[in-house]
Amino acid sequence: MTNEPQTWHYGLVAQWWAEFSYEGQEIAYYQKLIERCGRPALDVACGTGRLLLRYLRAGLDVDGCDISPDMLALCRAKAEREGLSPRLYRQAMHELDLPRIYKTIFICESFGIGGDRRQDLEALRRCYQHLAPGGVLALDNYLSYGNANEWQYWVNDKRRQLPEAWPLPGERERAADGTEYELRMRLADVDPLEQVVTLQVRVEQWRQEQLIAEEERILKGHRYFRNELLMMLEQVGFTEIDVQGDFTEAEAMPEHSVLVFIARK
Ligand SMILES: C[S@@+](CC[C@H](N)C(=O)[O-])C[C@H]1O[C@@H](n2cnc3c(N)ncnc32)[C@H](O)[C@@H]1O
Repeated sequence: MTNEPQTWHYGLVAQWWAEFSYEGQEIAYYQKLIERCGRPALDVACGTGRLLLRYLRAGLDVDGCDISPDMLALCRAKAEREGLSPRLYRQAMHELDLPRIYKTIFICESFGIGGDRRQDLEALRRCYQHLAPGGVLALDNYLSYGNANEWQYWVNDKRRQLPEAWPLPGERERAADGTEYELRMRLADVDPLEQVVTLQVRVEQWRQEQLIAEEERILKGHRYFRNELLMMLEQVGFTEIDVQGDFTEAEAMPEHSVLVFIARK
C-alpha cells in the first residue's frame, strides 16, 4: 500500500491537459486575487501551467508545484518555448516544503484529489506555514450536489448501478503534432460515508486513423461541504475566511456549484 495520492495526471492524460485545457473563468478570477492579495504567489498543483504561464506572461511573480513529474515537464517545456523560467517544484501538497514564503497561495481545481482527508488537512496546514502574516490561501471546491449526475448516485438504489457505462466515442481533438486525442470519463463509484467519488478516464491517441496509444486511469476525489472546509481551515489557524460562489465575487449561495474559500493568515 502506498500513501502517495492517486491522481490520473500522468502519461497521455498529462499530454491531453497540455494540449487542450486552456480557458476558464477561474484564470481571470485567481489573477485578480493575486493582484489584490500580493506576490510572490504559489500555484499549488499548477499542472501544465494553464494559470501559471498566463500569470508569468502578465509579469506576476508566481511559483508552481505539482505531484506529477509529467505535468511539470510539460509545463516547463511550454514555459521554455516562451522564454520563461518558472520555479517549479515536484511536491505533493501535503508535503509542501519550499524555500520561499508567499503572500498568496492558490489551489485551482485540485484540492481533495487522490489523497486522504488527513493529507488534505495537512496540505492546508502546509499552505498556512508557507504564508506571510496577512497572506491569503484561496482554493476552490466543486460541490457534489452542484453536479446533478454525480449527486443522484449518493442514493443507495441508484449507486448500485455504478459504474456508469463509458460514453460512446465522440469527436477527437487534434494536437500540435498532428495526432488526435479522445478523452472519455465515467463515474465508477461513490462512497457517501467517506464522501469519496471514483472517476475513470480513458484516453486514446490516434495517428492517421491508427490507434497508437491508449491508457485508462483512476482518480479519487474527496467531496467536501462548506462547513467542514471552514472548520478545517480554522483548525489549521486561519481566522478570516470568505466563501465566494462560482468564481465570482458573490457570497456563496445554495445555487452555486463551486465554492472558493479565501482564508487570511
Ligand atoms: C485538474 S488538474 C489542475 C491543474 C491546474 N491547477 C489547472 O487548474 O489547470 C489537477 C492537478 O493536481 C495535481 N495533483 C493531484 N494531487 C496532488 C497532490 N496531492 N499534490 C500536488 N498536486 C496534486 C495533478 O498532478 C494535476 O496537475
